[in-house]
Amino acid sequence: MRIFIAFAAALTVVAGGLFAYAHRHPELAPAPALPRANFAPDLVAKGEKLAGLGACVTCHTRPGGAPYAGGLKLPTPFGAIYATNITPHVDTGIGAWSENAFKRAMREGIDRRGRHLYPAFPYDHFAKTTDEDLRAIYAYLMTRKPVEQAPTPNELRFPFNIRPLLAGWNLLFHDPSPFRPDPTRSAAWNEGAYYVQALGHCGACHSPRNAFGAVKTDAHLAGGEAEGWHSPGLGAHAAAPVPWTKDSLLNYLIDGWDGRHGVAAGPMTAVVDHLAGQPESVVEAIVEYLLSLQPPADPKKTDDIVRAARAREYAAGATPVGDGPMARGEAVFARACANCHRQGGSATPLALGAAMNAPHAGNLLHVVLEGIKPPKGSPEKSMPRFALPDDQLADLATYMRTRFTDKPAWESLPEQIRAARSAK
Ligand code: HEC
Ligand code: HEC
Ligand code: HEC
Repeated sequence: MRIFIAFAAALTVVAGGLFAYAHRHPELAPAPALPRANFAPDLVAKGEKLAGLGACVTCHTRPGGAPYAGGLKLPTPFGAIYATNITPHVDTGIGAWSENAFKRAMREGIDRRGRHLYPAFPYDHFAKTTDEDLRAIYAYLMTRKPVEQAPTPNELRFPFNIRPLLAGWNLLFHDPSPFRPDPTRSAAWNEGAYYVQALGHCGACHSPRNAFGAVKTDAHLAGGEAEGWHSPGLGAHAAAPVPWTKDSLLNYLIDGWDGRHGVAAGPMTAVVDHLAGQPESVVEAIVEYLLSLQPPADPKKTDDIVRAARAREYAAGATPVGDGPMARGEAVFARACANCHRQGGSATPLALGAAMNAPHAGNLLHVVLEGIKPPKGSPEKSMPRFALPDDQLADLATYMRTRFTDKPAWESLPEQIRAARSAK
């Protein structure tokens, strides 16, 4: 990883240095403060839905802070980035931004003054948004209450703190071309593809990234990372043990829970809460698109998988003996978890959920350390957090991975536990 980062750094400097100069961007003149009445109410209402789909408020609001006033810390492998104030405050927000300046930021990742923005702001996805939709989001943001809150300076390591180097990044990795509908597909399919690839920025979390932090375009939705959580593969790369059907995906994306896939926890919770606020046709379109990428589910196989998962939940007689990590993990599980997570309990079999099947223990560790604050559509799917010491956490993770899946053991658990604790 270190070598990768050093390599990334060196190449970024070279590429960036070469192109930064050639690709300078002008400052755009400040826009006169526009009276709120300048924006048609139906355009503002449309913008509100679209801003929800883009989850703008999730990143642009710090815990307990005013909506859209920024300040949320986003950890990246290159250091921490803070989301900015996008309320229409003239000095500390985007009050002086014209519609064109806003569109340039969303498409090219350039702020009003001509500075490069970091792709922690998913402009690499937002670039695919249509003109009309961007206009509506602009109208919505410009009619919010202006909040005076100066942006928090980023904490990026050298050389990543040099913004002009992003010119090289954009040149290498950013495709600002608009979304191209596929005329051979239905209108709903195209709508779904558009939302997934553009405003929904599903790939920002669900696609893998390269050493430069850019989404790998040849591995769209093949599974990625979000704040220490694994985001499973979707569509052609669907990783859930039970194949998705229309109903199960709709349940998961709108209610945040499906009995054969479990709860949408962690960074997915806010996504679901926003999807739940969309017209149902939007989520249906997303589902149509995702399902078209995978082979149809075979109900017979699904039943077998669910039956096997329930059997693992029982696991009578499988209780490990001795005092190794398996036996110690079993003891923790029996004491802290089994009450809710046993066959017949209300929870989805653990073997079917994202956490146990992920390539690392991050999801499980976050769930245990932070508990589950479920999406609004499934308030009863909450789980308390547990203050377990490191050794018990490691034993628990080892035991659960072995008991609930046939996948390879998780490695470097002490490091993963340290990372999960420090992310809180
Ligand atoms: C995953 C987190 C994330 C999401 C989601 C997100 N943003 Fe941001 N945004 C950021 C970060 C971080 C920055 C600051 C980047 C920087 O400092 O270079 C930013 C910067 C911006 C800027 C530039 C503002 C400035 O002061 O320079 C605009 C405009 C913006 N975002 C609009 C939006 C809109 C509109 C949405 C929803 C459609 C949205 N963002 C969703 C993280 C996010
Ligand atoms: C901010 C990061 C993020 C974004 C954006 C995001 N997801 Fe997720 N998603 C996750 C994480 C993390 C999980 C795993 C949740 C868990 O372990 O409970 C997940 C889980 C899922 C699952 C369940 C997968 C499984 O195998 O159990 C589906 C389906 C899904 N997301 C669809 C979407 C769609 C569609 C979008 C875009 C509209 C989207 N996600 C956007 C982070 C994200
Ligand atoms: C008071 C009840 C309760 C207890 C105790 C409990 N859980 Fe949960 N847990 C839940 C509920 C409810 C869900 C969500 C159910 C669902 O997905 O159907 C859940 C879900 C989970 C998930 C799935 C998360 C995902 O994203 O895939 C994991 C993993 C998990 N719990 C682990 C544990 C562990 C480990 C313990 C013990 C340290 C534990 N739970 C104790 C109620 C509980």
